[in-house]
Amino acid sequence: MIRHVKDDLYQIGGSVAGHDGWHEAVRVYVLLNDGCPLVFDAGSHVHSHDIMDELKQLLGDTPLGYVFLTHTELPHTGNLSVILNQWPDARLVVSSGILPHVELPWWVTADQVMFAYAGTEESYGGRHISFLDGILKDQPGTHWMYDAATGTLFTADAFGYLFPASADAAFDDELAEGIPVDWIKRYHDSAFRFLPQVAGHKVNADIDKVFGKRSVQVIAPTHGNAMRGNIATCTARFHQAMLEICS
Ligand SMILES: [Fe+2]
Ligand SMILES: [Fe+2]
Repeated sequence: MIRHVKDDLYQIGGSVAGHDGWHEAVRVYVLLNDGCPLVFDAGSHVHSHDIMDELKQLLGDTPLGYVFLTHTELPHTGNLSVILNQWPDARLVVSSGILPHVELPWWVTADQVMFAYAGTEESYGGRHISFLDGILKDQPGTHWMYDAATGTLFTADAFGYLFPASADAAFDDELAEGIPVDWIKRYHDSAFRFLPQVAGHKVNADIDKVFGKRSVQVIAPTHGNAMRGNIATCTARFHQAMLEICS
């Protein structure tokens, strides 16, 4: 489902049903960027049909400019070949921390790939995107990205949450109580099995540093919907979830 998040930022992609009625999102984010669209993660192959339909609706005749990969796990790259078949001139922007010869699919050619370095900012089709190390990740080399124009922080696997079917595609400001701590906890508990061995206050302090340096207006997680209504509430609930999961 295409959801307009803010300005030229859109959310597409699907979700999958898990156990006991809880669902997990696998989202893709699109910045239309006035003639040079940018896509953040490629989505899952199980949602290829819908993702491509939604991308074509959003882009129309404008060719896709860049695909930014947070990391190379299948839910984030499974639809990549279909995207590159449709727009063969699109470039891939990946973390300098990944090993391209083992982590990217074999059919990705070297000249398609551009490396992005944590702590740097580059312009893509006139849009300034900055890069930082992922604070919570399940794969080395995962990076987060920030678009200052919309204030969007793309957080890959972090800030996801599980939700009941009734909340599929709902933003935090469309839920009466926002996104509950319990939903955030359910997701992070299963996605990051190492968290019980981690100091929660340290995770939260690192997250605070990231937010302290940027004017974050939207948090864009792959495994949840964009958080755009009340960032302070969303981060406070994330902090609470960390303190309850971690040691
Ligand atoms: Fe991951
Ligand atoms: Fe993921």
